[in-house]
Amino acid sequence: MTTEVLRPHAEDEYASELTALVATDDKPRPPAWRLSPAAVVTYLLGGKAGDVEISPKYVGPRRLIEVAVATLATDRALLLLGVPGTAKTWVSEHLAAAISGDSTLLVQGTAGTAEESIRYGWNYAQLIAQGPSEAALVPSPVQRAMTEAKIARIEELTRMPSDVQDALITILSEKALPISELATEVQARKGFNVIATANDRDKGVNELSSALRRRFNTVVLPLPDSAEDEIEIVARRVAQLGSALELPQPDDALEEIRRVVTIFRELRSGRTEDGRTAVKSPSGTLSTAEAISVVTGGIALSAHFGDGVLRPTDVAGGILGAVVKDPSADRVVWSEYLETVVRERDDWAPFYRACREISG
Ligand SMILES: Nc1ncnc2c1ncn2[C@@H]1O[C@H](COP(=O)(O)OP(=O)(O)O)[C@@H](O)[C@H]1O
Ligand SMILES: [Mg+2]
Repeated sequence: MTTEVLRPHAEDEYASELTALVATDDKPRPPAWRLSPAAVVTYLLGGKAGDVEISPKYVGPRRLIEVAVATLATDRALLLLGVPGTAKTWVSEHLAAAISGDSTLLVQGTAGTAEESIRYGWNYAQLIAQGPSEAALVPSPVQRAMTEAKIARIEELTRMPSDVQDALITILSEKALPISELATEVQARKGFNVIATANDRDKGVNELSSALRRRFNTVVLPLPDSAEDEIEIVARRVAQLGSALELPQPDDALEEIRRVVTIFRELRSGRTEDGRTAVKSPSGTLSTAEAISVVTGGIALSAHFGDGVLRPTDVAGGILGAVVKDPSADRVVWSEYLETVVRERDDWAPFYRACREISG
């Protein structure tokens, strides 16, 4: 049914896992939740539901996910904070899918987000013809979550102007949305809550007001702890994306995945894996998400223009693009890394040559 959609929602893509969890879940569920908190954690981190295998969606500390899920069962909302590419959006989508069976009640925060996206808007034709009425009201995703007893998702909360953010304060503290034009209000049903995400690297954005911050429990999602964890995340997501895009799977991508992850981790941390050589860090974040795109891009190259094996030449361009965000400063960082680290590794010679070729 969903095979024609480019990117199915989590609740559709993992419908069979969710059904198996619902069927085997014998723990108490908070009001309107599809699953118990423990089963939601199993859905996110992987495990078993009877004899159905539940695939891990998030790789990271169990405690963080437990705190996130437990928060959503209280009267406080959840704020997922972290540098770009730490799976904040991904975790928020899967939490909403597992708890409410619906990850689509979504508000995207930008500088242009208007209050209507948090509160409600009007169907103007009807408003003019009949005046304000229930029927002329256009509910926001947040309002729908309140009446449908679901989780609303707010992406990039701190990118929204502060007065728009503040529209959330009444909703989160009173659990009600006043509709002054109709002299009424919408009261949230049990099961309503909000998951917001924010990047702690965003510069020049609107800080969260302290009044709003008090309504949230914050969970900081970290960069992957070990290289092995990060390789696992990249390999898993690359395979999923590749099959969703119907790209031919390469025979062996692991060697290049390992290399991309190693390079990103070394540049991020400012020293080589063996701890012996200091390297400079570029301006970009070099997130796990970027590593996933570099490898997926490489697989497309190898599938369409190569021999179907992921080779150093297929990933070199993507790595250069991810590292060199600021053309002057980052280029120096990269060529220094290339000459002092990459060149010294005997088994990296084909990769070194591929990089030299494209940097000209
Ligand atoms: N720890 C992790 N576990 C699983 N997937 C991860 C992890 N970190 C990053 N990813 C992957 O990175 C991709 C981008 O994450 P995203 O949620 O868009 O990041 P953010 O919203 O934090 O910028 C997702 O496809 C996700 O699968
Ligand atoms: Mg995001």
